[in-house]
Amino acid sequence: MLPRLFMGGGKIVAGIIAPHPPHLIYAENPPQNEPKSEGGWEQLRWGYERMRESLEEVDYDVIVILSPHWQTYVGTHFLGVENFKSLSVDPIFPNLFRFNYDMQVDIELAKAIHDQAEADGMAVKMMENPDFRVDYGTIVSCHLTRPDWDKPIVSISSNRSRHYYSVEVMQEMMMQLGESTRKAIEASGKRVLLIASNSLSHRHFTTESAIPEDMSKEHITSHAMHLWDMRILDLMREGKTQQVVEEMPEFVEQAISESDGGSLTWMFSALEMPTYSPLMHGYGTIIGTGNVIMEWQHEKKGGV
Ligand SMILES: [Fe+2]
Repeated sequence: MLPRLFMGGGKIVAGIIAPHPPHLIYAENPPQNEPKSEGGWEQLRWGYERMRESLEEVDYDVIVILSPHWQTYVGTHFLGVENFKSLSVDPIFPNLFRFNYDMQVDIELAKAIHDQAEADGMAVKMMENPDFRVDYGTIVSCHLTRPDWDKPIVSISSNRSRHYYSVEVMQEMMMQLGESTRKAIEASGKRVLLIASNSLSHRHFTTESAIPEDMSKEHITSHAMHLWDMRILDLMREGKTQQVVEEMPEFVEQAISESDGGSLTWMFSALEMPTYSPLMHGYGTIIGTGNVIMEWQHEKKGGV
């Protein structure tokens, strides 16, 4: 195969799973967040710390993220306004997350991925409403990955094809979106970090303890959820991303996995189903859900 360098010089330099429960921001106490905490969920926050250190060695221009909390039902949408600045309040946890965000969007790359996906037969749309409220999944994952907010982002919506059709249809679409994303990045000349923003098992508690950060109350919801998380983790660590995709319908069904939003399948497809081992930065639970922080060092491992 010809080196992809001839195709425009752009490349995906790394891909990460960066989960977005607002509890992690609450526990970090960044100046942008109004509620203040006594910490909590340290294993995951240390995992993010390790990942940030690792990414310091990675040179990238743009973050491209797909979040399950920007849900669109007619096609895949892309943020298409240069700057978004507002207060994001989590609808479920307004006591934990009231975050002042100010982000830059790489419209050029967003439009390039949009156009490529459209040329590849997908239904797409640029989101050009300047008053649009950016979803908290995008905000939390981007903040914890790059708290300085000094890189522009491309934010991609989660087309809820799983709800209209099935996990299988969602996967077909995300495999195509991943390919279109990769082609557009290669042609762009830019170096890109991909973020799949999702938890693994997603059965959560239905009541909150008096002190949300009381870690004596934190654990996985059930043994079955733990077994599912460990199975998916082992497959990923062994480089069996194709098998993860093949087992996704059962994983989503039985573990209510948040990968039903498509971000994981999309990222694996964009990385061309990596078979090398990723870096495991951390695993932990948040209100009973399973979360991993993992990094595919794509450029270092010879990924195209
Ligand atoms: Fe979520």
